[in-house]
Amino acid sequence: MSYFDEITNPTWEYPIKSFFNAIDINHMLSVSGGTLNLEKYEDVTSDKWREQIYQRVSTKTMPDPPSQHWSDEMIALYRKWLDNGYPEA
Ligand code: HEM
Repeated sequence: MSYFDEITNPTWEYPIKSFFNAIDINHMLSVSGGTLNLEKYEDVTSDKWREQIYQRVSTKTMPDPPSQHWSDEMIALYRKWLDNGYPEA
């Protein structure tokens, strides 16, 4: 059991956007030259980024410290959210 087990229909509003903290947002804004704002639904779901984000978090090559790698439940929820067409709310 985990905190996220009850979520059958993940949306951007809950819980996906909560997976990105202020450190993640600031670092990726700077590393991507402003093209990946992890706070913005439009950027995270863009053709350019949504699968790349999955690649990085699922291989646990992102986020870098001091953030912590996502749990398997978080990774599965992000995958499910993409497969469901990434609903906003
Ligand atoms: C969940 C949070 C994060 C996600 C989804 C994420 C995602 C990504 C993605 C997709 C790339 C590839 C960018 C490209 O190809 O242009 C990348 C690169 C990078 N990220 Fe993040 N990132 C996260 C958090 C962080 C944090 C917290 C840091 C630093 C403290 C960081 C530092 C970097 C750096 C230095 C690179 C370039 C080097 C590399 O490609 O490995 N990221 N990240």
